[in-house]
Amino acid sequence: MPTPATEFGYVPDAWTERHLLDLERLSAEQLRLILDTAVRFKAATDGCRTKLPLLAGRTLANLFFENSTRTRNSFSLAARRLGADTVEFTASGSSVSKGESLIDTAKTIEAMNVDVAVVRHHTPGVPHLLGQALRCSVVNAGDGPHEHPTQGLLDIMTIREHRGEISGKTVALVGDIAHSRTARSNIWGLKKLGAHVIVCGPATLVSRRWEELGVEVAYHLDEILPRCDVLNLLRIQFERQYTRPFPSVREYALLYAMNGKRMARAKENILIMAPGPINRGVEITPDVADGPHSVILNQVTNGLAVRMAVVWLLCGPRQLQTTGQF
Ligand code: CP
Repeated sequence: MPTPATEFGYVPDAWTERHLLDLERLSAEQLRLILDTAVRFKAATDGCRTKLPLLAGRTLANLFFENSTRTRNSFSLAARRLGADTVEFTASGSSVSKGESLIDTAKTIEAMNVDVAVVRHHTPGVPHLLGQALRCSVVNAGDGPHEHPTQGLLDIMTIREHRGEISGKTVALVGDIAHSRTARSNIWGLKKLGAHVIVCGPATLVSRRWEELGVEVAYHLDEILPRCDVLNLLRIQFERQYTRPFPSVREYALLYAMNGKRMARAKENILIMAPGPINRGVEITPDVADGPHSVILNQVTNGLAVRMAVVWLLCGPRQLQTTGQF
């Protein structure tokens, strides 16, 4: 007899993590558990449109010290779809400007009976630090250039949804690899599930040392394009760079922007992805971003499903103890 617990992937022995801090430390089985749970949530909620109030009485707090459109809003909506309440904290407009420390700020929000804190910060390791300082679960929503685990998961979910199993697929991450938390989470997740991963961009943004993670390093998009099943086009993160990594944006676009001419050289069923925000005309031209191969907005919808799954898996054990309903 299926219960909400078994139906939506909370199996006590299969998921024992208190936090979701990165994909580096997850096993292939744990990745598949989150992805399969997300697929079930998407199906059970008419594509994440309807409510499934499994987490009534729980509270999720968004602690965002960096801007966000996709991640913050979709964590909020995911929690509300599950019947949980939300607290929204953004550094601008908060008492951080009065000198309150990171840990005091986080503990203050946690004291509002928060079960899950979703943390975005420009410094790598902040979610890990808060994972030790707080009693609630912590989810990394992007820590500087380090990791963005739910972005990696929603990217992988989108590839699986459109092209089937990850194993054997060739996925190229193109652009500002050096400063990309999306690149790191994609690499850990995709490699564990058996993909061949290529990182491609200018030499100033793609070091040969990426080969140590088991990925192929490439500097010419036109050369690798015919081999790729998926392109994930990453934004140039000027805000994290101290010096300009190439002479001009125009030159970058000439060599690396995915445009209609390059689409003619790609595989017939190539999947075009971007984590967003997208800069039209820099890493992708409008005809490709809005074209039939693009799944950029599907990625956003799958972000809701992945975040429902993550919040559910983290809160499941406490909900079980409190309500005894499972
Ligand atoms: N992809 C992503 O993290 O987008 P936001 O910065 O809008 O959350």
